Amino acid sequence: MYAESVNTPEKFWGRQARELLDWRRPFKRVLSWKLPHAKWFEGGRINVSENCLDRHLKTARANKAAIIFEGEPGDVRTLTYRQLHQEVCRMASALEGLGLVRGDRAAIYMPMVPEAAIAMLACARLGVIHTVIFGGFSSEAIKDRVNDCQARVIITADGGWRRGRIVELKVNVDKAVQATPSVERVIVLKRTGQEVAMDPARDVWWHDLVAGQPASHAPKAFDSENPLYILYTSGSTGKPKGVLHTSAGYLLATVLTMKYVFDLKESDVYFCTADVGWVTGHSYVVYGPLAAGATILMYEGAPNHPEPDRFWQLVDRHSVTILYTAPTAIRAFMRWGDAYPARHSLASLRLLGSVGEPINPEAWMWYYTVIGKKRCPIVDTWWQTETGAIMVTPIPGITPLKPGSCAIPFFGVVPKVLDENGKDVPRGSGGRLFLAKPWPSMLRTLWGDDERFMKQYWSELPGYYFAGDGARFDKDGYLWVVGRIDDVLNVSGHRIGTAEVESAIVSHHSVAEAAVIGRPDDLKGQALVCFVTLKNDVEPSVALKEEIRAHVAREIGALARPDDVRFAAGLPKTRSGKIMRRILKEIAAGGAVKGDTTTLEDFTVVAMLQAEE
Ligand code: WTA
Repeated sequence: MYAESVNTPEKFWGRQARELLDWRRPFKRVLSWKLPHAKWFEGGRINVSENCLDRHLKTARANKAAIIFEGEPGDVRTLTYRQLHQEVCRMASALEGLGLVRGDRAAIYMPMVPEAAIAMLACARLGVIHTVIFGGFSSEAIKDRVNDCQARVIITADGGWRRGRIVELKVNVDKAVQATPSVERVIVLKRTGQEVAMDPARDVWWHDLVAGQPASHAPKAFDSENPLYILYTSGSTGKPKGVLHTSAGYLLATVLTMKYVFDLKESDVYFCTADVGWVTGHSYVVYGPLAAGATILMYEGAPNHPEPDRFWQLVDRHSVTILYTAPTAIRAFMRWGDAYPARHSLASLRLLGSVGEPINPEAWMWYYTVIGKKRCPIVDTWWQTETGAIMVTPIPGITPLKPGSCAIPFFGVVPKVLDENGKDVPRGSGGRLFLAKPWPSMLRTLWGDDERFMKQYWSELPGYYFAGDGARFDKDGYLWVVGRIDDVLNVSGHRIGTAEVESAIVSHHSVAEAAVIGRPDDLKGQALVCFVTLKNDVEPSVALKEEIRAHVAREIGALARPDDVRFAAGLPKTRSGKIMRRILKEIAAGGAVKGDTTTLEDFTVVAMLQAEE
C-alpha cells in the first residue's frame, strides 16, 4: 500500500477518498499541485459535519455512544451519534439565525466539554470557519487571534473545571472583546454556574439560543477545498500563524489514520487526552474519530485531580481500549510513581499512542511496561499543526517498534533528512526534516499571509515542505525526530515561539530587552529561560522576577510562564546586534561557553552572565 501511495498517489488517494468519505458530488480530479498551492479532490462536494454525524445514523451506529464525557467534578454524560447529531443541528440552526454564513469566522474558547465539539461541528455544517482558542490562553491572546481572523462570534462558557478550580473563561472573553470590533455576539455555555456578567446586547446563553431550534438541519454541500478551520500556532516571529485547513483532504487523512494507526474497531473506546485547543484535539478528538464512527472518551480536567491516578481511573471506569497522550504527561506519571496506575487494572487497554514531542526511551519503556503491561503496542506519531494528520508512525502489530523513534512514513509521506545544501545526509547523521510530496491534509496557507506561508514552509528548498524539525534516519530507515531547530520551543508539548515571549516581556515597563531560550528539562522536555535587561533606573529584585513571570502569563497564558528569569546587565550580541542565543543556551545549561565567540561584540557580557549564575 505504501508503494502504491507514493508511486501512484492519485490512484491511492482517489480510492481512499471514495471508500472512506461520503460525497454529495464525486470529485473530478485528485490533485492539482502548483507550488505552494495544492487542491485536493477538485469538483467534489462534501459536508464535513454530515460525514461525522448524519451518515452514521443510517447504520447500527445511530445509537452507539459518540462521546462519553467525564467532567473534572465526576459528572458523566453520554451522547449517542443520534443525540450528538441533534445537538449539532440545533446549534447550526441557531448560528444561522444569528446570520452566520459560509466563510464567516467564529472563535471557540471553551473547556473540554461536549459542547466544544458541538460548536465545531455546527460551524463545519454551515461552512463557517472556526478558530478554537485553547482555554489556557489569556485575554490578550484571544484578542490577537480574533482580530487576525475577524471573528463575528465567540462561543465560550462561564468557566471550566481545572484542579478543582474554575477557569474564568467568560471573564477573559469580556476583557478581550473590549478591543475586538468584529465580534457581534458572544454565546455562553453554562458549565460551572458561578455568576458572570452578561451584556444583554451582545451576550446570549447557549441554552437560550438553542431552545426551540429544530433537531434536524439539512447540511449544504461545499467544495472539497472549502475552509474548515484556522488554528493559530507559534512560529519564529512574535505573531502567531493562522494555519488554514480545508475540508475533504483533511477529513480523509484523519479518518485514514484512525483506521490504520489506531486500528479502530467498532467496539473500541478511544481516549485522546489532548485539548480541543490544539491540533491533536481537532484531528484526533473530533474530526477523525467521529468521521470513523468511534466512541470517544472526553475528559475535562487535570490528570492529577483529585489524585494522580485520574487517567487510570478513567480507563477502568469507561473500559478504554486506545489511549493517546503526550510524553510530558507520561513523564509526570512516572514521577508520581507506579503506585497510582497499580490501583487500577488497565486490562481494557490494547493500544497506546504518543504525540507532541520526542518520547525518551525511558518514558517509552515505562509506558509500555507499567501502563501497557507489555501487551500494547505504542504508536509514536510524528506530525504537526500544519500537517493536519499523522505523518510518521509505526503501524501497530506490523511495524517492529523502537523506543524513541516514530518509525516509518505513513501512506503518501516521503520524509527527507537534508543538510544545509539540500543534499541527503547519510543514514545515522542528523539534518533538517523535509517532506517531499504534497499530502491531502496539508495546510493550504496561513490566514491572510500567503507570503509568510511560502517563505516559512516552501522556500528553504523549493518544492519541499520544511518542517522546522531536526531529525535523522537510522540504519534501518527509522526516523528519529530530535526537536525544533527554529526559534520555537516545545514546552510540555506546547509550541511556544521565543519571539512571542520576548515581546511579552519587553512590554513590561521595567524591561529594556529580553532573550528567551530553551533549556533541556527532564519533565517538560524544554524549560523557558529568559535573560532580561532592565531599564537603567530599575533595581533588580526577586519580586520583579515574579512580576515578569506573572506578566508573561497574563499576556500569553499560564502555559508560557517562564521557568526562570535571569537579570543581565547586557546580552551577548554580534557586532551587527544579533543576540547570540547559542551562548545563552550554554550558560543556561550551566556549562562552559564553547565554540566560536569571535563574533561577540563584548566578551565581558559573557563573564558577567556566568558570574550571576
Ligand atoms: C513535535 C502536534 C517527536 C515536533 C501534533 C513538531 C514530535 C511539533 C512528535 C509540532 C513526535 C510532534 N516525536 N516530535 N512523535 N510529535 N512533535 O504543531 O517538533 O503542536 O514539529 O503538533 O511537535 O507541534 P504541534
